[in-house]
Amino acid sequence: MIGSLNHIAIAVPNLVEAMAKYSGPLGAKVGIPQDLVEHGVTVVFINLPNTKIELISPHGDNSPILSFLKKNPNGGIHHICYEVDCINDAISKLTKDGATILGDGLPKIGAHGNPVIFLHPKDFNGTLIELEEVKG
Ligand code: CO
Repeated sequence: MIGSLNHIAIAVPNLVEAMAKYSGPLGAKVGIPQDLVEHGVTVVFINLPNTKIELISPHGDNSPILSFLKKNPNGGIHHICYEVDCINDAISKLTKDGATILGDGLPKIGAHGNPVIFLHPKDFNGTLIELEEVKG
């Protein structure tokens, strides 16, 4: 069901510093930060030849990544995102298989304007998985 790796997300305590590391020593092309208010994060994408890196930092006091950063003060890999053709097909298959979809279980609009869901890490070897509907 899953297709390409869309991105790997790294939670960072300071977005400006993290962007400088990627654009400076690592020499990457860093995009423009976007506030995703509904998700409680500010994100910036870095395009690599074969995938993307998403740097995420907290936006607001109820950000879901605040607890992650409390446990990992320097930041760390937060989730990986796979592409799917149809988010609703993915939801019905995963629900049937007993996987836990986070939040209310309904897709939200993600950073690329596409529907996304998140799957509980307990079901997938301790890895938080984001699925993003990308029309091929
Ligand atoms: Co993501």
